[in-house]
Amino acid sequence: MQKKNKTISLKTNSGSFELDVKEATVGPNVIDLKRLYSQTGLFTFDPSYSATASCESYITYIDGNEGILEYRGYPIEQLAELSTYLEVAYLLFNGELPSENSLEDFRANVKANMVIPQQTKKLFEGLDKDSHPMAMLTTAMASLSSIYHDEIDIKNHEDQKKFFFNVLGKTPILVASIFNHRNQTNIGQYHEELSYSENILSLFFGGNGEYKIDPVFAKALDILMILHADHEQNCSTSSVRLTGSSGTNPYASIAAGVAALWGPAHGGANEAVVKMFGEIGNKDNIPKYIAKAKDKNDRFRLMGFGHRVYKNFDPRATIIREECHKVLNAMENDDDPMFELAQELEQIALKDEYFIERNLYPNVDFYSGIIYQAMGIPKEMFTVMFALARTLGWATHWCEMQSQPSLKIGRPRQLYLGEQRRDYIAIDQR
Ligand code: SDX
Repeated sequence: MQKKNKTISLKTNSGSFELDVKEATVGPNVIDLKRLYSQTGLFTFDPSYSATASCESYITYIDGNEGILEYRGYPIEQLAELSTYLEVAYLLFNGELPSENSLEDFRANVKANMVIPQQTKKLFEGLDKDSHPMAMLTTAMASLSSIYHDEIDIKNHEDQKKFFFNVLGKTPILVASIFNHRNQTNIGQYHEELSYSENILSLFFGGNGEYKIDPVFAKALDILMILHADHEQNCSTSSVRLTGSSGTNPYASIAAGVAALWGPAHGGANEAVVKMFGEIGNKDNIPKYIAKAKDKNDRFRLMGFGHRVYKNFDPRATIIREECHKVLNAMENDDDPMFELAQELEQIALKDEYFIERNLYPNVDFYSGIIYQAMGIPKEMFTVMFALARTLGWATHWCEMQSQPSLKIGRPRQLYLGEQRRDYIAIDQR
């Protein structure tokens, strides 16, 4: 007996329509609207897509009310505690955890791509060292599409894999090149015996003489990379998908994701949070800034607070706050004034009716900058660090999308409120 599809009935002035309901493994089911317009002549209206599923995906699951984040079904808390970024990269791309041998092959594939072409190196000479690092990364990522283009068949699984390993290998080199271009220092070396995150620190800081990798920093960076790796259909991942749906070059699609992440409402928030802490200065000023955040006539928002999906704690913020304690404790800097200010601000906000009513909690960006700053990474580089980690999610979603036979170019419609005129008069008659 064939299982009957779940449906819902839609009653309109011109009759009643049955719309199919597609069932999720976990989380909300969806109303299949593919035939809504042809059946009813109606569009849906959801301008920020907050109740719209744009695709089918098997990669990441979020439950905003319960504060749940899972990569291929594994809770983020387990992965942050027990895994490594490279292993999470394998899991996100392949859908299963690796064996030691398959992880070694995966690492070798990434490593083989950790060289940037001469043309890209020269690109940085043309960029002002003080230009924003996200401007440099958007440019550098897009430049890869000028080098890797003709030989890519985006529907070929092997070409998709080649792109995935190439962008995962190149991005740390691009990011370390940007860090060193800003400082006018030399990029460090990759070392076989180091982990992915230890090598990022080596590439950043190891180009100018002796640099000893602090294992506490390396572990904290690896956890930050895991936590930032993917997050379902957020603004930048959706930008990669929509751009990629036209069949354009995959590196150009990733550049679109970098550009979207830069915004202060999205990944740019981590830099904005540290700027905000600097503006607040000390604990005595917190009430003034909480009042500004609540004042509808003031554009000021409490950066690092609130989330489109999480209406409970962002599980990543909880883990990062713990990591802050560990890093600052290891530096014997437990009373770091910025961390003290951040915790005080969090405590006050979470007791304030305005934030409680609106389910506003610290998000992934609230504490991350404190760790990056402790490592010697300046606030202008924070969003680049986010992009470094999220390139994994973007590339995984791009590959998943290109593998779906049902893929069509994304093309939303609109609610038109403009004029309609039929009285055109030539300019010389007006
Ligand atoms: C990321 O989508 C993802 O998954 C993103 C991300 C990922 O991993 O990819 O998680 C990464 O982008 C995290 C978010 C980083 N952004 C910030 O920290 C910037 C500060 N936060 C806000 O701008 C805001 O909370 C958003 C943009 C994150 C979410 O905004 P929404 O869902 O559009 O919420 P909203 O604007 O509809 O706000 C609802 C109410 C409003 O008040 P009322 O009109 O109901 O009176 O809450 C208020 C807002 O004014 N509000 C805030 C606030 N965030 C929301 N008020 C003060 N401070 C804030 N931070």
